[in-house]
Amino acid sequence: MNFKRIVSGVQPSGVLHLGNYLGAIKGWTDTIKSYHNNSFSNNQEEINSINSNLIFFIADNHSITTKFLKDENKYESLENQSNDLKISSFNNGNSKVAEKLSNQVITTVACLLASGVDPKKCIFFRQSDVKQHAELMWILSCITPQSWLNTMIQYKEKSKNNQLITSVGLYTYPILMAADILLYNAEIVPVGEDQIQHMDLTKNIAQRLNRLCGESIVKVPEYSLNKQGSRIMSLQNAKKKMSKSDETKNSCISLLDKSDDLKTVIMKAKTDNLSEIYYDIQNRPEVSNLINIYSCISGLTYEKIKLKFENRSFFDFKNDLVEILKKEIVPISQKAEELLTDNSGFMDEIMFDGSVKAGKIAEQNLKNIKKLLNFHKI
Ligand code: ADP
Ligand code: TRP
Repeated sequence: MNFKRIVSGVQPSGVLHLGNYLGAIKGWTDTIKSYHNNSFSNNQEEINSINSNLIFFIADNHSITTKFLKDENKYESLENQSNDLKISSFNNGNSKVAEKLSNQVITTVACLLASGVDPKKCIFFRQSDVKQHAELMWILSCITPQSWLNTMIQYKEKSKNNQLITSVGLYTYPILMAADILLYNAEIVPVGEDQIQHMDLTKNIAQRLNRLCGESIVKVPEYSLNKQGSRIMSLQNAKKKMSKSDETKNSCISLLDKSDDLKTVIMKAKTDNLSEIYYDIQNRPEVSNLINIYSCISGLTYEKIKLKFENRSFFDFKNDLVEILKKEIVPISQKAEELLTDNSGFMDEIMFDGSVKAGKIAEQNLKNIKKLLNFHKI
């Protein structure tokens, strides 16, 4: 069987949530299962070759685009200090930031392993451990017109109220994402809906690189959306997507939630004052979001859900939703907690092994690109 190469990443910017899970991670783990179930092989070489087409990583270089300059108040107070004081405050502040980031990386690794990202069945690593991502990004930065970046909506939104603390890295972030993908000659990139614009940019950069190299040195990747799960909304405001950075109480289901947490969040999820349970995204966005979550996890269509809850109350519906969420999420949160209390260095080893495997593929591809751009003749 001919396996297409899949590449995707997730930022370690906090505990992973149900949106990340349904929009991206479940797609990764389903693909891992289907590639390995279709191969019927016990031969390690064949298994390695399948694994090299399943590449998943923790995008920690992406998450530092907003980490260091995040706290506007801190920044403003630094503005009024002498240079020496500024440096010492930055050092103090940033060692805390670094500690927080490394905890978030570990938590994200644990959540992904617990969700079924099995390092024996794919290549799983931390982006900053493979330095070729940053090197290719630089080359791609030099072939990407600034005007392409100026149209990026996510940058505009994230920087809107924060011009002073917006980093250059946040602006060039989509080029790093293109490097992550083109470095491995990805053919399919599973992502949530919010990444479509970045994927279109990646395709444009790939085509331009190929033109400059005079041949198809990189594949032009396609994105894949888990259609139903690609836009899970906040449980308190269906106009906003569920997000790690949303501080609104009970807006988000995390992959570390226990039974009681799930019950509290779902029971407090916003609905409306109609009593029937049916999907109508235009007029009933909050209820439709809950029905969509129910559908993604149970596999039942919206129509079947409507029939199942005909003449029943929202209390019943929510109770049922809590039960199916418990079955899906609690095993993940339990496994993740176990991993987080394991001090054997097991997760570090996994990340190290993954970075060696990814590094080999990355180095070879980067070399080929540099050769065609005539770097080695200089
Ligand atoms: P976040 O936006 O929560 O910080 P990331 O930017 O790390 O998460 O996204 C990781 C993956 O999860 C991406 O493929 C993204 O499109 C997907 N994703 C994030 N939020 C949601 C959501 N609410 N619904 C569906 N998919 C999502
Ligand atoms: N930009 C993605 C996000 O914010 C994460 C990411 C980084 C990614 N590099 C990637 C996703 C490469 C897919 C492929 O969600």
